[in-house]
Amino acid sequence: MSQTDKSAPNIESVLHEARVFPPPKAFARGAHLKSLAQYRQLYRESIQAPERFWGRQAKDELVWFRPWKKVLRWNEPFAKWFVGGRLNVCYNCLDRHLGTPTANRAALVWEGEPAAPGKPGEERVLTYQQLHREVCQFANVLKRNGIAKGDRVIIYLPMVPEAAIAMLACARIGAVHSVVFGGFSAQSVADRICDSQAKLVITADGGFRRGSVVQLKKNVDEALGLRDASGDRLAKSVQRVIVLRRAGNDIHIEEDRDVWWHRELEYVGAHCPAAQLESEHPLFILYTSGSTGKPKGVLHTTAGYLLAARMTTRYVFDLRETDVYWCTADVGWVTGHSYVVYGPLANGTTSLMYEGAPNFPEPDRFWRIVEKYGVTVLYTAPTAIRAFMKWGEDWPRKHDLSSLRLLGTVGEPINPEAWIWYHRVIGAKRCPIVDTWWQTETGNIMITPLPGATPTKPGSATLPFFGVLPEVVDDQGNPVPRGTGGKLVIRRPWPSMLRGIWGDPQRYREVYWSEIKHSYFTGDGCRQDPDGYFWIVGRIDDVLNVAGHRIGTAEVESALVSNSKVAEAAVVGRPDELKGQALVAFVTLKTDVHATPELRGELRDHVAKEIGPVAKPDDIRFAEALPKTRSGKIMRRLLKQIAAGTEIKGDTTTLEDFSVLARLSQAEE
Ligand code: WT7
Repeated sequence: MSQTDKSAPNIESVLHEARVFPPPKAFARGAHLKSLAQYRQLYRESIQAPERFWGRQAKDELVWFRPWKKVLRWNEPFAKWFVGGRLNVCYNCLDRHLGTPTANRAALVWEGEPAAPGKPGEERVLTYQQLHREVCQFANVLKRNGIAKGDRVIIYLPMVPEAAIAMLACARIGAVHSVVFGGFSAQSVADRICDSQAKLVITADGGFRRGSVVQLKKNVDEALGLRDASGDRLAKSVQRVIVLRRAGNDIHIEEDRDVWWHRELEYVGAHCPAAQLESEHPLFILYTSGSTGKPKGVLHTTAGYLLAARMTTRYVFDLRETDVYWCTADVGWVTGHSYVVYGPLANGTTSLMYEGAPNFPEPDRFWRIVEKYGVTVLYTAPTAIRAFMKWGEDWPRKHDLSSLRLLGTVGEPINPEAWIWYHRVIGAKRCPIVDTWWQTETGNIMITPLPGATPTKPGSATLPFFGVLPEVVDDQGNPVPRGTGGKLVIRRPWPSMLRGIWGDPQRYREVYWSEIKHSYFTGDGCRQDPDGYFWIVGRIDDVLNVAGHRIGTAEVESALVSNSKVAEAAVVGRPDELKGQALVAFVTLKTDVHATPELRGELRDHVAKEIGPVAKPDDIRFAEALPKTRSGKIMRRLLKQIAAGTEIKGDTTTLEDFSVLARLSQAEE
């Protein structure tokens, strides 16, 4: 299992792991949950009588147009929550706050990427009242452009308030959004359009990233022209493109197809009732990588997702009325969906959105923003924390970070040193840290401390959230003793679980519900310590976690072999101090193609073009052949060891050709 893949933990890390941090007293006093006993009692109830527990929560937490008849209908692996109920996610994020003091509170505070060192970025604040108005107007724009309940809409925007506006507008009329991260390529956009059969694309002329313009509209133009192997246009379902003026760069406008966002607004009013949708009405599709094939369209629906988004955001971040909450994720990932947009807004919180990178124009960008807006809760990724460690303490020390009261982390296991650094340098030893484990598929946070109640241990996501029943099991599905590694599964359906893979119920069953009987398989390795705390080890399937981004090795391999010079490719992860994992590609070339440093660059760019810059291999190693078993399977375990530079262990007698192994080990150049 991949625990052995990670570089051996150093002694410092082991010592840190053994430490326990009780909730700070001053913090616990004002917290929603004040003791571990209180958590345990609620948790027990949520597991012993789940329908009663969730029924009560749904009633207390959400605004319904019509109450549900049945809390859960479970026909493994298909769940229906709050059957018969009607509600609207957008209504629960915006309308419910109108007529309350929250109406005039900032809903979104946005900071754009700054132009120069020391300069603030562009800024914009939208109160709940204002956001409601903008969302209603844009929902009318969607309708005007032929979008109705159930239609799919692709959102391919930079981190600007309009991304949230577009999502909420879809939710308001029951259109199903699929946000595509701005760092993905034209090919990825086309694949997602094709799979979801989207009718509309919402994009911008461009977005800013590290001082240059990301050509979003140009990518969309290209995506709409791409063809599959049989010559069919991949994106032929798209009838309209709505373009936001953002970067001011020159773009092509296709008559009869492309319209400007600001122009469209001139034709609509600000009145748009929220559609009364079934509890299981699809809310969004988000594509994520798996161990095989193209990314899967993970489907989330209305009531269960919203309930968990609202509850987890409030309990995990212990929200209070005075919070300025900042989750640094891009809305292109699930973290942005649940913890930039839906969770915070459903709670009437101020959610901060930042467009740029953490170190542009200088490495104190985050700390400058924390100081400027008085951020109280900060939720970011271990990979960012490790980068801040590398850039040094002087950058955060230049700023007043005393407004912070709670810190969160997500996306990959956090190494204890990074945890301690975050605690000491950013949190001034005063702020609890919530290490939150979850996945695109789970919709919301699943394993996490509840600050105020849960003592934390650096590197552990600690204990399950209400209603979540995780277990560490062996290959047969039997629970393993504490302290032993195994597969992490979830034993019960939960409200925000994925409802399926868009258009492919069979794949849903196979990927998630076949590995271990009657359980949801997470793809992660894990162990529980004697206190029952969960320690996530990382993926045990062929999925890599590179700087918190999920990348399927199969996808990168097929991108590589789509290049005419490549014969075969195998992609594996190598431990990386900053990114958690780095991508290493072993490549064999077609006859007469020579391995050169230029070709290495060419192949990396090719992957960026096929998938997006996030999937670029960090290292490409040319080899004469790939090590395979007699049945022709690539020996990934071996390649991982070679990539990591570790000694080759285990049984290699099934290797087809021993000499390949020797050559690979020297394949550096
Ligand atoms: C995978 C899910 C969920 C939001 C971001 C990523 C890893 C996530 C943690 C954590 C250890 C974590 C797992 C998981 N992961 N959070 N706190 N500790 N590992 O979503 O792209 O769906 O990736 O990220 O391996 O399976 P995602």
